[in-house]
Amino acid sequence: MASTSIVLIVLALAPCIFLITPQVQAQTPSAPTPASPGPINLTGILDKNGQFTTFMRLLTSTQVANQIENQLNSSDQGMTVFAPTDNAFNNLPSGTLNGLSVQQQVQLVLYHVLPKYYSLAMLQTVSNPVRTQATGQDGGVFGLNFTSSANQINVTTGVVQTQLNNVLQKDFPLAVYQVDKVLLPNEIFGAKPPASAPPPSKTPTVTSSKSPSGEPSADNNNNSGSNERNVGLGLVTGIVMICMGILF
Ligand SMILES: *[C@@H]1O[C@H](CO)[C@@H](O)[C@H](O)[C@H]1NC(C)=O
Ligand SMILES: *[C@@H]1O[C@H](CO)[C@@H](O)[C@H](O)[C@H]1NC(C)=O
Ligand SMILES: *[C@@H]1O[C@H](CO)[C@@H](O)[C@H](O)[C@H]1NC(C)=O
Ligand SMILES: *[C@@H]1O[C@H](CO)[C@@H](O)[C@H](O)[C@H]1NC(C)=O
Ligand SMILES: *[C@@H]1O[C@H](CO)[C@@H](O)[C@H](O)[C@H]1NC(C)=O
Repeated sequence: MASTSIVLIVLALAPCIFLITPQVQAQTPSAPTPASPGPINLTGILDKNGQFTTFMRLLTSTQVANQIENQLNSSDQGMTVFAPTDNAFNNLPSGTLNGLSVQQQVQLVLYHVLPKYYSLAMLQTVSNPVRTQATGQDGGVFGLNFTSSANQINVTTGVVQTQLNNVLQKDFPLAVYQVDKVLLPNEIFGAKPPASAPPPSKTPTVTSSKSPSGEPSADNNNNSGSNERNVGLGLVTGIVMICMGILF
């Protein structure tokens, strides 16, 4: 019985693994897009710029592009995306992407997405760390830190630091910023977990250790924070469901 289930799961995931493999990009020479009403098209925004083919491929193969478009439509928070250039991916040590599991590739892509719209001005005053869409297996949210000086905003993961230097899309509900480095999450690429972090707890009532300190929680509800966490978990679950849907 158990082994039958495992076989089914492996079979169900097979199309996902297949989707990760590089695909030849059908580069249709696109006519200039009309000032678009209707749903926001993230891949369209990236496609127009021509130097984000690797990121676009990852967005598609991990199904994150669909998730973003659905979430944009259903949430009033807007979203923010950091788009690494093809050069950024080319500058990674060889084998970096291929060395990741399917789940880690999903986490890597989700790490470039914030579940909220941030203008540049907002990023200059945001309190660190900022939640991304990426979560670990224990439900902990991966965070990004932003620092700024007069005219420059840096983003740091703990593993890499780079600056935001090109705004590809600035209007609510979607902000898209170019980054010249791939944002590698500390949780996947860090040498070891930060010493200050408490050991991950196995109880489901653990709350995110990333909540800004100095903010006494007025909410003693054990489930506080679980809603936001569930968005991330829901994404991963949704992706798996979509993949299973492909097969059946
Ligand atoms: C979004 O843009 C891409 C690339 O320009 C295009 O292939 C796709 O059909 C567009 N999707 C929608 C829903 O307009
Ligand atoms: C977005 O939501 C509206 C209703 O709020 C719905 O009619 C529309 O089909 C949705 N579009 C997409 C792309 O999901
Ligand atoms: C941003 O990063 C650059 C190096 O990449 C550094 O020289 C600069 O001081 C940083 N600025 C801020 C505000 O952190
Ligand atoms: C991010 O900012 C938080 C709060 O200031 C700090 O505790 C944490 O060490 C920072 N992480 C990195 C990688 O800079
Ligand atoms: C919720 O947390 C309180 C302490 O804050 C604890 O006494 C209680 O047993 C917890 N309830 C559940 C269902 O975990």
